[in-house]
Amino acid sequence: MDPLPRLLRYATPHRAVMAGALLAMVVYGAANAWLAYLIQPIIDDVLIAQSDLTYIALAILVAYFLKGLGGYFSSYLMEGLGHRVVMVVRNQLFRHMLDQSAAFFARRAVGPLLSRINNDVGQVQRAVSETIGDLARESLVLVGSVALLFYYDVKLALLCMTATPLIVYPLIRFGRRVRSVTHRSQEAQAQMSHVAAEAFAGHRIVKAFGAEGHEAAKFETASFRLFRTNLKVTRVLALLPPLMELLGGLAIAGALWYGSREIASGRLTAGEFTSFLAALLFMYAPIKKLSRVNANLQQAAAASERIFEVLDLHTEVRERDGAIQLPPFTQQIEFKDVTFGYEDAPGRHTLRGVNVTVRAGQMIAIVGRSGAGKTTLVNLLPRFYDVTSGQILVDGRDIRDVTLASLRAQISVVTQEVVLFDDTIAGNIAFGTPGATPQQIEAAARAANAHDFIAAQPQGYRTMIGERGQRISGGQRQRIAIARALLKNSPLLILDEATAALDAEAEKAVQQALTTLMMNRTSFVIAHRLPTIYRADAIVVLDRGRVVEIGKHQELLAIPNGVYARLHQLQLLETKPDSRELKAAYLAAAQAAAKEAERSR
Ligand SMILES: Nc1ncnc2c1ncn2[C@@H]1O[C@H](COP(=O)(O)OP(=O)(O)O)[C@@H](O)[C@H]1O
Ligand SMILES: [Mg+2]
Repeated sequence: MDPLPRLLRYATPHRAVMAGALLAMVVYGAANAWLAYLIQPIIDDVLIAQSDLTYIALAILVAYFLKGLGGYFSSYLMEGLGHRVVMVVRNQLFRHMLDQSAAFFARRAVGPLLSRINNDVGQVQRAVSETIGDLARESLVLVGSVALLFYYDVKLALLCMTATPLIVYPLIRFGRRVRSVTHRSQEAQAQMSHVAAEAFAGHRIVKAFGAEGHEAAKFETASFRLFRTNLKVTRVLALLPPLMELLGGLAIAGALWYGSREIASGRLTAGEFTSFLAALLFMYAPIKKLSRVNANLQQAAAASERIFEVLDLHTEVRERDGAIQLPPFTQQIEFKDVTFGYEDAPGRHTLRGVNVTVRAGQMIAIVGRSGAGKTTLVNLLPRFYDVTSGQILVDGRDIRDVTLASLRAQISVVTQEVVLFDDTIAGNIAFGTPGATPQQIEAAARAANAHDFIAAQPQGYRTMIGERGQRISGGQRQRIAIARALLKNSPLLILDEATAALDAEAEKAVQQALTTLMMNRTSFVIAHRLPTIYRADAIVVLDRGRVVEIGKHQELLAIPNGVYARLHQLQLLETKPDSRELKAAYLAAAQAAAKEAERSR
């Protein structure tokens, strides 16, 4: 479907505003024609016949007043409507993007997505709010002026109209060109946002590798592409006004030549002819504006094509019609013959025939080499992705039969990288639990071992953290994430290498908090640390997407040549928290040896 009518459909709920704007435009157009008409009595009655001026002066005042009133309201109402429509599109676009599945975000970079919201919507905004108003209003001015031309002299009017195709043809030609160039310009802009977003997000790496020049060069390439396409648009657009002016001059010269003969033969008075000329001149501004309308509309069309392209994407993870609320989890979770392949790697399955059953209250450890599919497996439970075949059942219900909100409300996720939003500490803990009271937030923070360091912050719980706020350490971030999960208080818990990025010191505090968090919950824990794994009710060993072993630590170690036994042997399963004690023991031994040496001397 053509993007412009589709864009206009967003305006249909605002019929009253459009009607008001149209009324204002009619007033504007009529006042304009009236002003041209008033020139005739000025010349014939006032200047030539020397009659009274008062009536005409008054009429001119009224006409200008009406024109001003009509102009004001038509601009205000139409442009306001344009802004409103664009706001709705913008909000819809953001919400739609956010509703996309994890696969959508895995495929796309953040910069170009932002660019759709900023640049494409901005382009539509400029075009719509200015152009639609101009289109309607100036067309009415033209109608009024043309009517006046015909009123005075049909033949002369027809003569002037012969210029019309000369005007319209280039406009349509230009419009097409503008549309395709605009497409490229918006793409260049998206590319530029991409390069910038990536460089800013990775500024430390860029600097550490001395790659500022490289990044700047990438940006300049994209920037130059934008410059070139913009130049092309400008070259086309700048050609329009002089072209229109030339045609206007042609029409006026023709009218003068023909009109002088009409006056000489007495068919027109001097006043009538001047009024005719005025109407012709009054047409100039609208034509000049209208000449840009098509080009602007084509720019809007190009930008809205890019917007609708995103709006028309359906998300891969969709809620079934008639999906029900998932009742609170009580019994068990079953992965039944789960096979999964990422869409961009067709034919290659990341998980193959996974069968795992977890009963309420159990803690399952998932181990395996990097790339074995551990993260992929736990991502299927909150439906970040959907299984390719097989089923995941919660209390016997396929998770694709329940609403996403009710499923996700029962799952908390704590991963290696904690995302903190640009908000207060309290706001970050209450993220996902908007109604939480300060008491509840503090209780969660205490349980997460986080209260002490939060209380030591300059403004306590009201300290800003995240993007532009206070910097806090990795272990502190992790404990805020745990407090967040504690407050959400969902029965299911996913811990994806939650402590992998921490040093032994920080890990201890976090580990305590995690233990509190796991209490009375059913948890899936991806871990490398033996202390965590020892406590698991079952260890699921993944290897290249298959479950190769399930059991307890001792059972798995006993399997000759087992994958788990080998992971253990290669020390891919770490004993880090204990290594502190090892280190302490080593230090103590070293000190004792030193003392011994001193004594013997
Ligand atoms: N978004 C993705 N698109 C395509 N392939 C992916 C994606 N995420 C992970 N993979 C691939 O799937 C496999 C398993 O990854 P993952 O589940 O992250 O492993 P683990 O968590 O065990 O280290 C890897 O081969 C990885 O390259
Ligand atoms: Mg992983």
